[in-house]
Amino acid sequence: MASPATAASNDDEGNEPAGAAFTCRFTAALRHVETTLVPNPVLSDPLAPLLCGPRALKLAQDELAGLAAAQGPGKHLRVPARTRLVEEQLLDALRQLSSHEQGGVDVQVVSLGCGMDTRPWRLPQLAQRSGCRVRWFDVDQPEIARLKLDSLAAAGAQTSAEEVVRPGDGQRERPAAAAFPLHCSSYAMVGADLSVVPLREALVQLAEPAQPFRADLPTVWVLEAVIYYLPLEAADALLQVSFAPAHARSERVLGRDWS
Ligand SMILES: C[S@@+](CC[C@H](N)C(=O)[O-])C[C@H]1O[C@@H](n2cnc3c(N)ncnc32)[C@H](O)[C@@H]1O
Repeated sequence: MASPATAASNDDEGNEPAGAAFTCRFTAALRHVETTLVPNPVLSDPLAPLLCGPRALKLAQDELAGLAAAQGPGKHLRVPARTRLVEEQLLDALRQLSSHEQGGVDVQVVSLGCGMDTRPWRLPQLAQRSGCRVRWFDVDQPEIARLKLDSLAAAGAQTSAEEVVRPGDGQRERPAAAAFPLHCSSYAMVGADLSVVPLREALVQLAEPAQPFRADLPTVWVLEAVIYYLPLEAADALLQVSFAPAHARSERVLGRDWS
């Protein structure tokens, strides 16, 4: 991810995040390019073009052109392949957690350094029929959290799965249909710099009161291309939390950094 981060520091778009933060725009752009320009794509990410921005898109198009020049046309990009691999592990972990329970199980997914990842909107397998009620937490730096929520709102993506009380008859109902509905049972975006804020603290203090993080629930931790951005001490502390066996069949770490 080094070259796009360097490119971002010269960015002339006033609101483009710089440095490591820009890499999340780049990975989204690579997923968009895979979705639209590669035959038989390894994934489909219709929200990605609404989250990646034009500069990252240009770099991703260049990466595909470079790959085609070096290896011939029709090759898959490395980042979407990683994304697909991680989500197969994620869905497998959810299947395993639900296979022992009758009537569905509450599971948390915490995506650390989530960037512009869109799994809560593009994986229908997260819906309750998978046997899990999935409470999803996205965690990233505060400016990325703001940028992602603003971009999701502009795209018409649902970011709250809470039921609302209908005026008039007082019936509870799901929010109005969104262009991109959530497939998980609840969603929270947590803005925290994990190099300075301890993970548990970030989850407990910053998540919306409507969706508190619960240490007693099975939790699937997704670490995809983030750990190498953290100072060693912070990375060590984060891995200790996410590996800690707080629940018998609880915490699994996925997608440690493959680039
Ligand atoms: C290469 S991107 C990966 C994004 C996403 N996981 C994906 O695969 O598309 C790295 C992400 O780590 C985040 N990150 C880097 N340092 C961080 C920190 N100190 N605290 C929280 N997030 C951080 C960046 O903001 C960025 O979104």
